Amino acid sequence: MFPDTGPSTRAYGSTRGFFSCRGRRRRSGSSWIVGMLLAAGFFGMVSAARAKVHWVWSGAVTSETAVVKARVDKGVRQVRLVIQARKGGAESHSPTSGFTIPDAAGIVTFSLESLQPGTQYQYWIEVEGTREMTGGFGTFSAGAFSFKVAFGSCASTGSNHRVFSRIRQANPDLFIHLGDFHYENIAKNDPERFRDAFDKVLSSPRQAELYRSVPVAYIWDDHDYGPNNSDRTSPSRPAALATYQQVVPHYPLTGEPGRAESIQQAFSIGRVLFIMTDGRSFRSPETDPDGPGKTMLGADQVVWFKTRLATAVEEDYALIAWVNSVPWITWENKKAEDGWESYSRERTELADYFKQLGITSRMVVLSGDAHMVAMDDGSYSNYASDRKAGEKAFPVVHSAPLDRYPSTKGGPYSKGTVAGWNLLWLKKEQRFTTMEIQDDGNALTVFFQGFDGSGRPLERMQMVMHCSEHVCEAE
Ligand SMILES: [Fe+2]
Repeated sequence: MFPDTGPSTRAYGSTRGFFSCRGRRRRSGSSWIVGMLLAAGFFGMVSAARAKVHWVWSGAVTSETAVVKARVDKGVRQVRLVIQARKGGAESHSPTSGFTIPDAAGIVTFSLESLQPGTQYQYWIEVEGTREMTGGFGTFSAGAFSFKVAFGSCASTGSNHRVFSRIRQANPDLFIHLGDFHYENIAKNDPERFRDAFDKVLSSPRQAELYRSVPVAYIWDDHDYGPNNSDRTSPSRPAALATYQQVVPHYPLTGEPGRAESIQQAFSIGRVLFIMTDGRSFRSPETDPDGPGKTMLGADQVVWFKTRLATAVEEDYALIAWVNSVPWITWENKKAEDGWESYSRERTELADYFKQLGITSRMVVLSGDAHMVAMDDGSYSNYASDRKAGEKAFPVVHSAPLDRYPSTKGGPYSKGTVAGWNLLWLKKEQRFTTMEIQDDGNALTVFFQGFDGSGRPLERMQMVMHCSEHVCEAE
């Protein structure tokens, strides 16, 4: 269990606590004249000292690169990022000379290169010569690397629940958000609505502190892409895509910069490849008849996914973590649950491809959507067309909700589910999961552990995978 310290103005014992804005200083005077002058100065300072940076977060971290995005007041012209390795060393700037000019919405992007692998960095957003907001991230080590990822999905818009502090205090190297970053259900094609939603989340104190402290990899689900159960027909699709590329620090997308038609992305940490697919941008309506024309990922993304997997085999990754928001394991004929049951033709196509490539035994699926923690050791995840009775596939781990009413979907799951009581939606639940990798370069062990909102480990929600020689066994 992690201590409940909440948002704080000082760093915690760990490296994952930062304060965001400039601190106040008390002043004193010995005469009323001095007092008046100070008062005048103080009131003058109030407007000058008003924070001009609304939020900042980082992502797209590799062993040598990272992206930091921030939102500043409209009209601000001179913005740059100051960065320094935590263990000392010289400060450097991005851009290296001059300043970045924010876009029309006040959003600035810093693409950092030539960083040192395996190094903790602190950064400051400097506005017109004043350091306004700070944050940090750590680059990944090159080669075999032991690390920790936290993951989860689904929080009411702007939630300030302490679960976000618990995630930060778990000291992950990365936080993977699997969608429902907010529940604005935006049906109008209006980028401003999406930016407002991001503002609400990224300005919420405990979430803001998490995102300043831990880099993110974020893929959307339905409520943060469009309306409930949204698909490629969502009227807000263009605005969702444009705003994601503008606001979110993400790994490279397909297509021209800023004009991607979907947000799938891949990145590696040590000997683990993470592939995040976009289950919304090309998704056929759920009510379409299942068959060759019906798709969850879209034809282009399926090609991209298969190509990335084939490359992964050549690159010899020890483990492939597929970040797939919605339930892969589903009860037969129980459709309309957002998961793969209604897209079973495409599910079989993918399962057959995993098997053909010989990677089924070194995959794990990370999911959200259903507001539960659930774990399956591979007993129920095999959808290959030639599967035999009792033939296992890969483990599946669901992690949700971060702060939302409980629900269960899909299954069965070999280790069951932890959801909660949802009569009349009276009580929200909070959960997250950590994925800790220990890798000595030969054997790689993965520890999954689910937590409640107080940071207490969920007893049944734990699983260990032992990987060596391209074969993983889940306990
Ligand atoms: Fe959700």
